[in-house]
Amino acid sequence: MKISRVLLLAMAGVLAGCKTSAPPKPVDQLNAQEMHGHAVYQARCVTCHSDRTDQKRNGPPMLGVFKKQYMPSGAPANDERVSATVQHGRNMMPAQGNVIDQQELDDLLAYLHTL
Ligand code: HEC
Repeated sequence: MKISRVLLLAMAGVLAGCKTSAPPKPVDQLNAQEMHGHAVYQARCVTCHSDRTDQKRNGPPMLGVFKKQYMPSGAPANDERVSATVQHGRNMMPAQGNVIDQQELDDLLAYLHTL
């Protein structure tokens, strides 16, 4: 029991230290839902968040957002927290809950998962 726990922690450390994650899925390979999410992203997010480079704009880059365990704030990188950020905003990030409906949000999440 103790040993496996130590092993797990060591493995988590190796994963966390691994900086080379897979590149984003090329735009021409996106499925229909991801493609629609890409369009939503271009309309609502790209001015403040780069998606295919790690360049910082107003906000942190979304490149690999779901490949990391945590977002810049320290919140876990999962659908729930990203959705809440989009809907309710965060500090200097404006809430988008009034302009993005549930379908667009689902598609947006599908796109973010390809990054
Ligand atoms: C007007 C600029 C702006 C727009 C538009 C914008 N954001 Fe942000 N976003 C920010 C800023 C600034 C932060 C950093 C907030 C902070 O933690 O202080 C941020 C943070 C985030 C975070 C990280 C939250 C965390 O917990 O660290 C996510 C995820 C995010 N934005 C997603 C999106 C998505 C998806 C869209 C499009 C629907 C979007 N943002 C649109 C400015 C923006």
